[in-house]
Amino acid sequence: MPDKQRIGILGAGTWGMALARMLANCDKEVTVWSALPQEVEQLSTTHTHPKLPGVDFPESIRYTTDIEEACTNQNIIMFAVPSVFVRSTAEKAKPYIKDNQIIVDVAKGIEADTFMTLTEVIEDVLDNDTLHLVALSGPTHAEEVARGLPTAIVSACKNLDAAKYVQKFFSSPFMRVYTNNDVKGIEICGALKNIIALAAGISGGLGYGDNARAALITRGLAEMERLGGRIGCTPHTFSGLTGMGDLIVTCTSEFSRNNQAGHLIGEGKTPAEAVKEVGMVVEGINALPAAVQLAETYKVDMPIVMTVNKIVNEGLNPKDAVNALLQRDLKSETPLPSINDVFEESVLRKTRKSGMKRVITYGTFDLLHYGHINLLRRAKELGDYLIVGLSTDEFNWNEKQKKCYFTYEQRKQLLESVRYVDLVIPECAWDQKRKDVHEYHVDTFVMGDDWKGQFDFLEEEGAEVVYLPRTPEISTTRIKKDLNK
Ligand SMILES: NC(=O)c1ccc[n+]([C@@H]2O[C@H](COP(=O)([O-])OP(=O)(O)OC[C@H]3O[C@@H](n4cnc5c(N)ncnc54)[C@H](O)[C@@H]3O)[C@@H](O)[C@H]2O)c1
Repeated sequence: MPDKQRIGILGAGTWGMALARMLANCDKEVTVWSALPQEVEQLSTTHTHPKLPGVDFPESIRYTTDIEEACTNQNIIMFAVPSVFVRSTAEKAKPYIKDNQIIVDVAKGIEADTFMTLTEVIEDVLDNDTLHLVALSGPTHAEEVARGLPTAIVSACKNLDAAKYVQKFFSSPFMRVYTNNDVKGIEICGALKNIIALAAGISGGLGYGDNARAALITRGLAEMERLGGRIGCTPHTFSGLTGMGDLIVTCTSEFSRNNQAGHLIGEGKTPAEAVKEVGMVVEGINALPAAVQLAETYKVDMPIVMTVNKIVNEGLNPKDAVNALLQRDLKSETPLPSINDVFEESVLRKTRKSGMKRVITYGTFDLLHYGHINLLRRAKELGDYLIVGLSTDEFNWNEKQKKCYFTYEQRKQLLESVRYVDLVIPECAWDQKRKDVHEYHVDTFVMGDDWKGQFDFLEEEGAEVVYLPRTPEISTTRIKKDLNK
């Protein structure tokens, strides 16, 4: 019989234990480490957790206070301690971590002094380039996972193979796991949504209703996205499970400690009293110093985060704080279009008016090379105005399963420097081509002849479809292979 897959879980709080239960029930060999001897004693004798009443844990789970035992010979080592203990736990684990180890972090937060996300903290301490660090995050209350209720989560890693390994490892009959490569975005979402949940709780504690909560969720997301955009995260992450998904659950659920703590603060308790009453880690409060610093460093307007900070750390009265939020200068909900958008729209309008023949082609155009330029030149010869649909990073990652050397922005800049290219638009989905043909008034659709026949359906939309022969002897795959030699 093949060996069972093994995991060492560091931390025996509600989240670590909910996942331990799910994995043990999926026939994984699970060892749970805790820094607290009384916790190990309690779990191994009763097979129950005081904060998860009514839930029984499989007897196959092993418990230990010896971190070497938890870290040795594991397929995965998972950090499930509250954010403030991630660094010290990584320091304790460091001597027992082998090369190429997959390490999963499920704690959510940003370190106060360094502004590092938690996988960055682990990476900083372990200081080993061969490790694969995966952030596993999403709208996932321990209380529901411990009861086997349906849940979706995201496995985020720069290395797609590691993200997929973790995806498979954690997939269960009730847990669906997606992959993402935007680790920073996932972790920023995980940390900031807790602050927005504090705000939603405070609003509830003050007696405000669903309208206020909906406003906080949406405007909170806008703040998260603004910061994420400034530090290079992928916009789609914020509308995904770890962004919008986790915000909804944390701001609306009775299980959310951040929401509960906020509620108590809104009712008049001090933050310290609220944390004590909740009795578990309130990560939104821990994340505040770093969030405030990030907003100031990157000059991002984050009024909700700043207001929560004033209430929690500067003693501002919650009612006055909400009034001040409502009295701010009036704003537009949508950002002003960028100079580029305005410019591109005006160029498009001109070509439409002058009856120029428009050609479109699509691709990833990574490591822009002679084969690409040759195709672009020949595509341009078929008309007057060449539009390139450039695959976004998420599209490459999620749909084409392609790893790129360059980001979307870098690839876009390279394409824009080619004189045959007039306009670069993002390609985010396979089926956007029909819409693009109409939106950009396309006359000719061009692809390499390795796609022959696959886009003939665009003729129904009125576009001529042309498959151009590829430049022999040159391909991105081959270049990448040579580069890796
Ligand atoms: N609970 C959830 O639903 C949930 C879901 C997703 C993510 N998370 C994240 O997981 C992390 C852990 O959350 P939790 O709910 O399990 O917290 P918790 O409050 O239940 O965990 C407390 C645990 O921390 C550990 N601990 C205490 N002192 C320690 C020390 N000195 N060193 C190392 N470990 C120590 C102990 O095992 C203790 O049980 C948090 O960052 C949280 O945001 C929680």
